[in-house]
Amino acid sequence: MDFQLLFTAFQALPAHARWPQQRQLHECLRQAIRSGNLVGGMRLPATRALAAELGVARNSVLYAYEQLATEGFIVATRRGSVVAPLAGRLVAVDAPAPPMPSARGSLSRRAQNMPLLPGAETAAAFAPGVPALGEFPVLRWRRLLDRAWASLRPADLNYANPAGEPALREAIAGHLRVARGALADAAQVFITDGTQGSLDLCARAFADAGDKVWIENPGYQGAVAAFRAAQLRAVGIVVDGEGMAPTASDWQRQRPRLVYTTPSHQYPVGSVMSLARRLALIDGARRAGALVIEDDYDSEFRHDGPPLACMQGLAPDAPVVYLGTFSKTLFPGLRIGFMVVPQALAPALALLLDRAAPRGRTAEQRALADFIVSGQFALHLRRMRRLYRQRRDALVAALASHLGDVATVHGGTAGMHLALRLHDARSDDVALSARLMARHGIMAPALSLHAVGLRAQPWRGFLLGYAQVPVEAIEPLVKKLASVVRN
Ligand SMILES: Cc1ncc(COP(=O)(O)O)c(C=O)c1O
Repeated sequence: MDFQLLFTAFQALPAHARWPQQRQLHECLRQAIRSGNLVGGMRLPATRALAAELGVARNSVLYAYEQLATEGFIVATRRGSVVAPLAGRLVAVDAPAPPMPSARGSLSRRAQNMPLLPGAETAAAFAPGVPALGEFPVLRWRRLLDRAWASLRPADLNYANPAGEPALREAIAGHLRVARGALADAAQVFITDGTQGSLDLCARAFADAGDKVWIENPGYQGAVAAFRAAQLRAVGIVVDGEGMAPTASDWQRQRPRLVYTTPSHQYPVGSVMSLARRLALIDGARRAGALVIEDDYDSEFRHDGPPLACMQGLAPDAPVVYLGTFSKTLFPGLRIGFMVVPQALAPALALLLDRAAPRGRTAEQRALADFIVSGQFALHLRRMRRLYRQRRDALVAALASHLGDVATVHGGTAGMHLALRLHDARSDDVALSARLMARHGIMAPALSLHAVGLRAQPWRGFLLGYAQVPVEAIEPLVKKLASVVRN
């Protein structure tokens, strides 16, 4: 081993140039051992000889050897200082990392099977699910947060109530009774980290691995992901103009444990479930011993006609778990959602959460309760409803004039997005969607990617979220969309 070459190369690196000589030597030898250049069992030169070879003080060599011995990299033997036999096994520390398996290959098989759709975290034009973030009353929210923090006592910094802050549960129950026709009292309301958290919890608390869960086809891939992660078997149920449309044979042959549905504004195609269907679904679920999971994600925004009451409130003991979120009404980063469970299930769920789900963010929960009770929530909803209706109108008009002959709008009556279905069922909407993003920075997720199971022809077209797109930007964007679709 040419120690002089080794040491000169080490010293030449700018990062080491200012170090004291003894530290340079210690690090240089340590790295040589860790990288396998000095192998286990190899004898190092005597201190005096090495000092002479390198032109450094003998004390520097003594210091370096002592440090290496303390760290276990070398051992003193009768033959002199020898590289520790185990040291060679540490090679991996500095060796190049072994090649990573393909992006998802290092995850569990379950995780590899989860659907990955473009994330809503981009605020690109038409990204669905993103509210008008610039319209959120940040100043008022900060004031409420300040007030909530001022109300906290030291004990409130501990784990929070696992079911959620009592004030927030109360406020949500009150709001749902008035605005959504729900039959809910605070004891049935459980605060979660958003609908995704609620879905995970439903899958774990109300079903076992291998149980069947019905999901609308096309449907919400976030739900598919949560249910697959819990090892449930997802069964796609076709959606028509009246919402999810299970057949008698579905009830017999594909008996579900859970039925996931978005009745107020079907995701992604936007149909509104008829009253007859809602009642039939509740009845079927009751007979099958199943629970309906009603995801009411954007129902606060109904543009044409009065708001529809939720399924949960249709019967006093309906087997329905209602899911709500503040991601659409306030902002997604808040990560606060809630579930309303049937009265009979509330005590058992409370017990489960008590054992298994520590909660926190008391101040945010109190601020949110204040926001609702003080009427600011209703005010914000009214403003956003007006704004989103204008944006929806502009989008529908632009789509009619630029793409009306090749595509039809579905589901624009409520919520924050609509579905644009291409008439040509062979259209490659995935490729078109990628081209829209690459050429124009427009995010228009392909409808065909929302298929659940293979039982029906996938819808071809795009999901277009309009809540965050100013009216004046809509027509120019639709022209770009049309140019890509037509070419
Ligand atoms: C159908 C549906 N449910 C729920 C959500 C919101 O989920 P979260 O509360 O986890 O943000 C979305 C968001 O896009 C959605 O599309």
